[in-house]
Amino acid sequence: MERVRLFDKTFKTFIPNEEIEKAIDNVAAKVNADFRGCTDIPILLCVLNGSILFTAELMKRLDFNCEVVSIKLSSYSGTERGEKVRQMMGLTADITGRRVIIVEDIVDSGNTIMELRKILAEKGAAASYICTMLLKPESCRKDLHPEYVAMEIPNDFIVGFGLDYNEIGRNLKDIYVLDPDA
Ligand code: IMP
Ligand code: MG
Repeated sequence: MERVRLFDKTFKTFIPNEEIEKAIDNVAAKVNADFRGCTDIPILLCVLNGSILFTAELMKRLDFNCEVVSIKLSSYSGTERGEKVRQMMGLTADITGRRVIIVEDIVDSGNTIMELRKILAEKGAAASYICTMLLKPESCRKDLHPEYVAMEIPNDFIVGFGLDYNEIGRNLKDIYVLDPDA
């Protein structure tokens, strides 16, 4: 098992890249099945910075016309989840009347998604769908039902494939979990 050191913490391999790619194949197939042949141009909303890699891998696999829009939100500091979701950068395009597929790296407490849904409703989106690479069902609010989930994981702190620890580790190809014994 490979270990990586990021600042003061050690992480160990948790989900290898091939497994991540397979899970993205499967979730992309589900999105395609629902949106293929659509007459509108749905928006893929990339929630920066965490979903950069997932958005790229997902969109390569989609076979309907779509447009990419970004927004930057922030709730984490270190390995601790903050209560308040802050908007660091607003929507990069007008989404009025459009169907929006929210592309998230991970749904943890669900606070970020709730805030996003509020923003999208205020901006006049026609509909919104959640497509997340990872879901922590143990910590996720029960009233939140993401339409598309690539992988479910336990309630542990992870990094890699877009996810960070204090902004580093996003470039790791595999997903790593905090190693409490190291
Ligand atoms: P939520 O608002 O609690 O659902 O958290 C969502 C955001 O927190 C995600 O979009 C991630 O950017 C970040 N996050 C949640 N869990 C982790 C983790 O285990 N590692 C790194 N970032 C995480
Ligand atoms: Mg995120």
